[in-house]
Amino acid sequence: MKLIFEKSRTGRRAAAVPKPDLPVPELPEELRRRQPPRLPEIAEPEIVRHFTALADRTFGVDTGFYPLGSCTMKHNPRVNERVVALPGFRDLHPLQEEDGAQGALELMWRLQEILAEVCGLGAVSLQPAAGSQGELTGLMLMRAYFADRGEGEQRKNVITADTAHGTNPASVTMAGYTLQKVETDARGNLDLDDLRAKVNEETAGLMLTNPSTLGLFDEHIEEVAAIFHEAGALLYYDGANLNAVCGISRPGDMGFDIVHINLHKTFSQPHGGGGPGGGPVVVRDILEPFLPVPAVVRDGERFRLDYDRPKSIGKVRGYCGPFGVFVRSYAFIRAYGPALREMSEVAVLNANYMLARLKETYELPFDRLCMHEFVLSARRLKREHGITALDVAKRLMDYQFHPPTIYFPLIVPEALMIEPTETEAKETLDAFCDAMQQIARDAAEHPKLLKEAPHHRPVRRLDEVKAAKRAIVRYRFDDHPDLTGGPSEGEALEAQKGA
Ligand SMILES: Cc1ncc(COP(=O)(O)O)c(C=O)c1O
Repeated sequence: MKLIFEKSRTGRRAAAVPKPDLPVPELPEELRRRQPPRLPEIAEPEIVRHFTALADRTFGVDTGFYPLGSCTMKHNPRVNERVVALPGFRDLHPLQEEDGAQGALELMWRLQEILAEVCGLGAVSLQPAAGSQGELTGLMLMRAYFADRGEGEQRKNVITADTAHGTNPASVTMAGYTLQKVETDARGNLDLDDLRAKVNEETAGLMLTNPSTLGLFDEHIEEVAAIFHEAGALLYYDGANLNAVCGISRPGDMGFDIVHINLHKTFSQPHGGGGPGGGPVVVRDILEPFLPVPAVVRDGERFRLDYDRPKSIGKVRGYCGPFGVFVRSYAFIRAYGPALREMSEVAVLNANYMLARLKETYELPFDRLCMHEFVLSARRLKREHGITALDVAKRLMDYQFHPPTIYFPLIVPEALMIEPTETEAKETLDAFCDAMQQIARDAAEHPKLLKEAPHHRPVRRLDEVKAAKRAIVRYRFDDHPDLTGGPSEGEALEAQKGA
């Protein structure tokens, strides 16, 4: 497919809107462009076709089944889009004075109350705009708490599991803590002996996902919490997997002190292409004074923003956070009501149904019931037929499925991490399991078919490392022949696309 720059022809326009009859603003000479920017020049039918063709080549949860473990790619109810587009929400300015934004403030306050209840904890800040930003915020709260107690210098270490999502160690390091890893035992729980050996008076806290990225609920979570609390340390709950436990168990009751929630996963919000997310933090009362400002508070029948928090860590995001995500999450939660528990139960049921169908064909490293997701291993296929998890993932694309997460968590060789979510029909789950079983048969009988997959996608196997590390996101007109005269040719141009 040609780049839009290659389709450009001088003078072509999509629509010519008359110039506004307004005074041209004064711009300092040094800020003015020497030449107008070189933008593609395209007629309207071509531009529509170009972007429609690009859209046809993408895959999203609206296109097909997307069991990307740990990412909770569930259906985004369309009614939420209508609600968020109501003029009172859509047209609200972030600097609107409080009297004119009572509805928005009330919605945020109500969402805070619900999240506190879901987590079994006391106070909430909606500000962080992603799970990873929630992690950093939570660790900054931990730091502020210990500094306030005069233990800031002493508490240097934060412990994570060896199954942790990559953002956990990154956040620990960014927050200035020393990272320590604890091993997983034979049943997929935290190894308590390893843990006891590492927790001491220098420990600031634990950072844990429960259920873990193996899709397993830690069977000793209360004992784990006691080990940390006895050492005066705190427990941080990475709530990215909250979809497994909503209304069933609460992080606060398990002993956690700080939680972040991925609103875009559990309570639905289009995500996956870097779209807006929400990563609120929920904390035990002892940590409330340190939460970001402003806090949304209620005074009788009125709602307002409270900046008067002298111990606050400050702001972590502009204004009050990603407001559109709050509206969608609130609408989602209110639509479920008390049935929120059912949402998690069905997510867990769907995952266990698929696990039961697939565990004989693929290896199951920890043979237990799973929560909302599970991790299989393609190790046997690799040993016996040279077929890897990557080959399985690529072949699934030929069946119109998005591949599961692969090679994560790192402790499972040839890992395939599958998360169906609660919004998929049984027929879809069956079709996916049928495809996985057919792929395992083909691994033995037609390995070449798998090695060369995908066969029916616009691109085949890419150099993914190069694509990630050396992404070319800027078209350098200056490096290329003049495109304005006729069809462009030349290796340099092709190199831009494929390099
Ligand atoms: C277990 C876990 N923790 C944290 C995160 C980070 O969340 P976000 O992508 O919103 O930054 C993710 C995201 O995939 C996750 O799966």
